[in-house]
Amino acid sequence: MTTNEEMLGRADVNDLEAILSITAKDVDEMVHAVKDNADALFTWNYEKGERPALNKLYEKAKNAQWNGETDLPWDTPVDIEKVVANAPTDPDTDPVLLAARRPGQPLHSWGDKEWNQLLIESQNWTMSQFMHGEQGALVCTAKIVETVPWIDAKYYAATQVMDEARHVEVFAKYLDTKMNGHYPLNAHLGMLLDDIIADSRWDMTYLGMQIMVEGLALAAFGFMHQLTEEPLLKQLLRYVMSDEARHVAFGVLSLKEYYAELSDAEMLERQEFAFEAAVRMRDRFLQQEVWERMGVDVRTMIKLQLENQGDKNEDPFQQLLFSKIVPNCKKLGLLDRNGGWLRTKFGEMGVIQFEDWADTGAEYDTMSLAAAAREDAAASNAVVA
Ligand SMILES: [Fe+2]
Ligand SMILES: [Fe+2]
Repeated sequence: MTTNEEMLGRADVNDLEAILSITAKDVDEMVHAVKDNADALFTWNYEKGERPALNKLYEKAKNAQWNGETDLPWDTPVDIEKVVANAPTDPDTDPVLLAARRPGQPLHSWGDKEWNQLLIESQNWTMSQFMHGEQGALVCTAKIVETVPWIDAKYYAATQVMDEARHVEVFAKYLDTKMNGHYPLNAHLGMLLDDIIADSRWDMTYLGMQIMVEGLALAAFGFMHQLTEEPLLKQLLRYVMSDEARHVAFGVLSLKEYYAELSDAEMLERQEFAFEAAVRMRDRFLQQEVWERMGVDVRTMIKLQLENQGDKNEDPFQQLLFSKIVPNCKKLGLLDRNGGWLRTKFGEMGVIQFEDWADTGAEYDTMSLAAAAREDAAASNAVVA
């Protein structure tokens, strides 16, 4: 069995020095190259609909295209200070921020100006990571078009490439026109994206991107969509979520068939990869880059965050980010194979409680734009009545 050291480069998941040692290597680079070790596969089996669930997704995707330039109200004026007033990071309740305010701690002398700046930087950082993650999805899905052996999956993945281009475009436009500058890619997220691209096995792209990265993104977009009252951002997120739900479903429906036939040893490699991805994504939420920009001692803040989260990460907001990933892993058999190896790991991370929540293969249609339009129509009918 692989050790934490081999999977993560550290024996203790919460090893402060090891987490801090992962930093962006070259923040000034304009192009980042990763070796893609996979074969591009042609298939001569053109039988459309051989995999009915994927064919259904493809047909839905063709009808669900939207235009980021013309379908969103870009002329909406955005006051970013008002937007961040509804951010989930509240300096008056967040346990880490409260601890950091104690005398002698880094944020002790901060006034309203600094707290407000922190919220703005955090929002900018979050939106920037969404944008970079979307580019990761764009590249990964283009890779899936090449590497997956089934024609129905190639067709569907091609629609996802278009979706992801649109997502990168709208997050970049929001950052450029409504906010103030970008953050570079977080080092932990970057490491994960590199690992996903570099893996030679076609299903690992799906597992890393569609199940883990997009599963977390779907939950994160859902939160921000719920919390924000900024109409442009709310609509942008609603549109993106309707696509993301389909993307995660694509991962679940494709891998369900493939994983049913893998040996225990092969499944263990997938379980370990899912765990590694979960840890990298947890590490990214320590948002090292924001502390750096705020001129606060990064080591002290990361230490406080890790201590306050506890071994199980008891921050309910962070736990909920895994609410899509865990049931999807269960559906794929990843929780239970090999004596429940991943179940134990997710238990240690404090996220196993979501295992019986709806999986995205079953619920994706409820997040479609057509479903949203039906809800809006029902709501306005109720008002009229
Ligand atoms: Fe996306
Ligand atoms: Fe996506």
